[in-house]
Amino acid sequence: MRTLAHLSDPHFGRIERATVQALIAAVTQARPDIVVVSGDLTQRAKAREFQEARRFLDALPSPQIVVPGNHDVPLYNVLARALRPLRNYQRYISQDLEPFYCDEEIAVVGVNTARSLTFTGGRINRQQVAQSCARLECCGGNRTRVVVSHHPFDLPESHELHGLVGRADMALAGFACCRVDLILSGHLHTSHSGESAPRDDIPSYPALVIHAGTATSTRTRGELNSFNLIQVDGPCVSIQCLAWHRERGSFLLSETAQFQRTPAGWSHIPPADASDEP
Ligand SMILES: [Fe+2]
Ligand SMILES: [Fe+2]
Repeated sequence: MRTLAHLSDPHFGRIERATVQALIAAVTQARPDIVVVSGDLTQRAKAREFQEARRFLDALPSPQIVVPGNHDVPLYNVLARALRPLRNYQRYISQDLEPFYCDEEIAVVGVNTARSLTFTGGRINRQQVAQSCARLECCGGNRTRVVVSHHPFDLPESHELHGLVGRADMALAGFACCRVDLILSGHLHTSHSGESAPRDDIPSYPALVIHAGTATSTRTRGELNSFNLIQVDGPCVSIQCLAWHRERGSFLLSETAQFQRTPAGWSHIPPADASDEP
C-alpha cells in the first residue's frame, strides 16, 4: 500500500497564514510515501513568494513530485513571461518541470501544463503524453500509474468546461493507451474525485480523476482549505479530504471516497464508517 499526500494551489503571496504550520503538521503526521504538489505554488511568481514556497516544501516529507501552475508564470512582466516564464520556479523550486518517481508499487509522473501564451488555461502536447507514457511503462510490472498536472483533464459535472487543459481529449486517449490509473490535479480550488467521463474516441481504460482544493490560499471559491490523502492498495483507492478547521487550528477529515478498479472501470464504494478521523 502507498499513501500520497496531494496538496495543490498553496499560492504563497496570498495565503491564509494560520493554515501553513497546521498543514505541515497534518501531512507529516500522515507519514505519506510521497508528497504531490499540483501547481500554483505562488500568487504572482515573485522571488519572495517562491522563497516562501521553498521553505514550505523543505518542511514537508519527501520524496516530492511538484509541478508548476499558471500562477507560477509572471503575469505582468511581459518580457519574463515571454522569454523565461518559469525562471523563478526553476531557480527556487526545481529545475525539473516534469519530475518522476517510481518504486515497487507505484509510478508517478509530473506534467507541466503551465504556458506563457495562456493566462489561466494550460496545455499539453503529444510529446508530453508520449514521454509520460514511456516513463510510466519503463517501470513495468503492475505498479499503479499516476499522472500529476496543475490543470485538470476532466471536470466534475458541477463545473462548466473552463479550466480544462488544452488538448485534454488527446491526452486522456494517450493516457488510457498506457493504462494510467490516477490523474491528480488542482487549479479549480475545489476538491472532487471520480472516473473520467466516457468519450466515444477514448479507449476504455478510464482514469480516476482526483482534484485537490487550495491548501493554504485565501482564494477558496466557497470551500475550506483542504488537501487529500490518497491510499493506493492494488486496485483499491481511498481518498480522504482533510479540511481546515479554523476553530481547532488543524486539518480534519471532511470526506472519504473509495473506489475499486474493475474490468468495467472504477467502481465507487460507499465508506464503511465516515466518522473516523485520522
Ligand atoms: Fe490556483
Ligand atoms: Fe491555476
